[in-house]
Amino acid sequence: MIHMGKSNKVQTQFVKIKQDSAEKFLKLLKKKLHNETFLDRRTKVKHEGVYVLFPLIDDAEKVKMLIGGISNQINFDIVSAEGVAEENYKFHSIEEALVGELPENILELIPKSYDIIGKIAIVEFDQINTITEKNILFYKKKVAEALVRINKSVETVYEKLSEVKGRYRLKDLKIIYGDDNPETIHKENDCLFKLDVKKTYFTPRLVFERKRVSSSSFKKQETIVDMFTGVGPFSIQIAKNNDVKIYAFDVNPSAYKYLIKNIDINKIKGKIIPHNMDVKTLLNPNSKLGNYLKHKIDRIIMNLPEQSVNFLDVACFLMKKSSGIIHSYQFCEKPNPIKKGIENLSTILQKSGWYIEEILKSKIVKPFSPKSDLIVLDLKLKLFA
Ligand SMILES: C[S@@+](CC[C@H](N)C(=O)[O-])C[C@H]1O[C@@H](n2cnc3c(N)ncnc32)[C@H](O)[C@@H]1O
Repeated sequence: MIHMGKSNKVQTQFVKIKQDSAEKFLKLLKKKLHNETFLDRRTKVKHEGVYVLFPLIDDAEKVKMLIGGISNQINFDIVSAEGVAEENYKFHSIEEALVGELPENILELIPKSYDIIGKIAIVEFDQINTITEKNILFYKKKVAEALVRINKSVETVYEKLSEVKGRYRLKDLKIIYGDDNPETIHKENDCLFKLDVKKTYFTPRLVFERKRVSSSSFKKQETIVDMFTGVGPFSIQIAKNNDVKIYAFDVNPSAYKYLIKNIDINKIKGKIIPHNMDVKTLLNPNSKLGNYLKHKIDRIIMNLPEQSVNFLDVACFLMKKSSGIIHSYQFCEKPNPIKKGIENLSTILQKSGWYIEEILKSKIVKPFSPKSDLIVLDLKLKLFA
């Protein structure tokens, strides 16, 4: 086995084959053995006279399979020789980086995707967690090491232990690799976001959605409410290049603390007014801010998908009577999640005397669960005359 970074030269098994048969050999691997991984791409291919030596992964079963699969169609030998590490080799996936380092059955269970937030990676080990082996932590650490190897910016790896939950929409995280320091700075669409992955909500998976919304055409001095701002990714990306005034709310004190920092570290054209409070309290007849903002708002961002419909009363209270736009995010059941999302809103709006004047955009942002999708509806709302 080649241990990258430990030793540059390790005894390795090779397929030794005449140069003029090499192409046929590679084609047979593809065709007869269905692109299974036999060759160790981390070790240099060798040339000896008229022979070429292809390095093999360190797996006796695989070598048997190779011999059994194609040795009756092409002549080759399996030889042992010194392997030299392919230093510039870039792995394409964690799985590829771990070939030969973890058993085949474990390789099948390793996560295919993960989130990177600044210098932190967050991984879900849902499949590895189904096995009952005592080596489970070793496997997770191996995955984390491979992840760090292929993503040079990552220094810390956390395991995601729960779904987002609670009022602040946080998830439980367990350190697997590196320093247990959950604070980082994430770059997205030319903006910087300082945040703590344990104390604040942030997902890099909405990068394109935030790009889309922040690229809308905004009126000069447009007044916007970002009801559930978190550390400010929608507000800051909108205010970056637009002369707008955004009231940004979050009930989580940590999100508020980072929102203030993020307003500070990004050079923004517009103005963001941060508030650490429950946006529902704006409806309180004694709320000075509520009374001030009443029917003054042009646009409202409602990014609390599991509950945003319950805050439509606040949206109607704030929205300009002449009409305004909402960006409503919801989790809706399949099939027809968009139709269901529109129905959810229409019923509540009607009761408050509002209606949907125009559907500006409706789309599935991403699948959320086997039964539901995250959808967004950009709607122009109007008060019944
Ligand atoms: C799903 S996160 C969205 C954060 C942000 N918009 C983003 O894209 O990263 C929802 C946020 O709403 C906040 N929140 C939940 N209920 C709230 C309420 N009643 N008033 C204000 N903020 C609230 C949570 O603390 C959390 O930060």
